[in-house]
Amino acid sequence: MKLYEIPGKCAIITGAGRGIGAATAELFASAGASVAVVDKYENYAVRTADTIRKSGGNAIAVTCDITHEEEVEEVFDGIAKELGAIDILVNNAGMAIRKPAIDMPLAEWQQVVELNLTALFACSRVAARHMRAERKDAPSGGAIVNLASIMGLSGGLFPNASYQASKGGVVNLTRALAVEWAPDRIRVNAVAPTFVNTDFTAQIFTNPAVLEEVEKHTPLGILPEVDDIAAAILFLASPAARCVTGVTLPVDSGYLAK
Ligand SMILES: NC(=O)c1ccc[n+]([C@@H]2O[C@H](COP(=O)([O-])OP(=O)(O)OC[C@H]3O[C@@H](n4cnc5c(N)ncnc54)[C@H](O)[C@@H]3O)[C@@H](O)[C@H]2O)c1
Repeated sequence: MKLYEIPGKCAIITGAGRGIGAATAELFASAGASVAVVDKYENYAVRTADTIRKSGGNAIAVTCDITHEEEVEEVFDGIAKELGAIDILVNNAGMAIRKPAIDMPLAEWQQVVELNLTALFACSRVAARHMRAERKDAPSGGAIVNLASIMGLSGGLFPNASYQASKGGVVNLTRALAVEWAPDRIRVNAVAPTFVNTDFTAQIFTNPAVLEEVEKHTPLGILPEVDDIAAAILFLASPAARCVTGVTLPVDSGYLAK
């Protein structure tokens, strides 16, 4: 068995139209998986799926706003039919509305929690139902990998309470689902990246004063790229991590060690 490969596995990756999700979709395809590239925006999903297919991988583009559970159920059913099963789910889609807690309207708080935590829960249980039904008699179950954040394991550097609360929720939801679904041999883990340069963090990476503050909290002196996060996600989804469940793996260049 090749430990870091997932040949023949069917993987759903949410928010895979760009950034960390796109890098993960490309890495999973190169590791042998058939990938469902799920994104709210059709052109993003198509772009990632095309890139994968051009390099010889297997991918389908799926447009879905994962905050609508009924849409998720319909879409995941369709993916399971088209790819044959759901073996792996990467809960990657996420957002932030960065502003001081005192100024944040509740509607914005709810928007962040709805995507980062509630939709992640909904996608997980829809996928777990498939994994349980499809893998009943198989020796291996499924794998779910959630995108948490160092902001879910610390108070953070900048005002971002809704994001920090939702990602903290992801860390403990990961433990809860890992325990609940262990009898079905569904492993549930998370990665917790530090700051990674994507469209999501453009405001941070284009502001030298903010970047300097980030660098002060980065013992290794280098920040991860999207491929470094994808590599950690692949590890947790692969047979190399067959006895790992319920953990949140920081990919943080030492941020949390300080
Ligand atoms: N970039 C970082 O520094 C960083 C650090 C820690 C954690 N993370 C987490 O990693 C994940 C990916 O981050 P990124 O930087 O690649 O973000 P990104 O904004 O570049 O990409 C997110 C993708 O999710 C899609 N999306 C948004 N809402 C959606 C919805 N309702 N349904 C389906 N798709 C939706 C977007 O269209 C986009 O393609 C997020 O969960 C984020 O919180 C990122």
